[in-house]
Amino acid sequence: MNIVLLGPPGAGKGTQAKVLSKELGLKYLGTGDLLRSLVAQGNPKALEAKSFMDKGELVPDKLMVEIISEQLRDLESGFMLDGFPRTLEQAEILESMLLQLGIQIDRVIYFDLPDSEAEHRLSNRYQCKKCGNIYNTNFGICPQCGGMLERRQDDEPSTIRRRLEVYHAQTTPLLDFYEKRGVLRRVDAQGTVEEVTERIKAVLKDDQN
Ligand code: AP5
Repeated sequence: MNIVLLGPPGAGKGTQAKVLSKELGLKYLGTGDLLRSLVAQGNPKALEAKSFMDKGELVPDKLMVEIISEQLRDLESGFMLDGFPRTLEQAEILESMLLQLGIQIDRVIYFDLPDSEAEHRLSNRYQCKKCGNIYNTNFGICPQCGGMLERRQDDEPSTIRRRLEVYHAQTTPLLDFYEKRGVLRRVDAQGTVEEVTERIKAVLKDDQN
């Protein structure tokens, strides 16, 4: 099964992707994580992308596709995409690349969450610099490995608001795009992590019956 996760920043896409890709045996590709890891390695294109990320803007389509072209070319059936596509142009590029590979998107899971809750979640997100674990309380150091906890640069209040604006303007048209293709499934992203996981699993199971 090939799945795309779609939804506002802070909706819990990354959290659910980590749980579900493991449970369902799918290869996970998260473009935000990939960009941040390339930035840390000093990749020149990712460093160019960083100036957009830090402002809460999307990385321009051409640059974004250049950065992840290798990962897209290597896609094999059985994937979970988190963070791509985010614009109609990216969705069209992905569709034509998958067509060439003889692969299709089976489900697009839309995480439905009010902006106020997304803002609340992102304002309380702290990540360990060393092991990458995410916490919703600032313990200062990571209870798991002792590494320093830090906020993502784009989790500052004004940047969070900009990311939400950009999401509504540039990413929500994808709901219609995938609705027309009959693959969109809406999931209420409020509630606990476990509740949301169960809802997604129920939606995927329903489709198999
Ligand atoms: P990216 O890293 O993908 O950011 P995002 O989409 O804004 O998503 P987040 O990671 O902030 O949120 P999430 O939905 O994954 O939530 P999470 O699980 O972490 O992208 C960053 C930037 O890269 C973009 O702004 C853009 O600049 C660039 N970029 C990436 N892809 C691009 C593309 N295709 N084109 C152009 N530019 C691109 O959860 C959030 C918090 O909530 C966590 O603390 C978590 O613990 C908590 N939480 C999760 N679920 C629950 C729950 N059910 N209840 C309570 N708390 C919860």
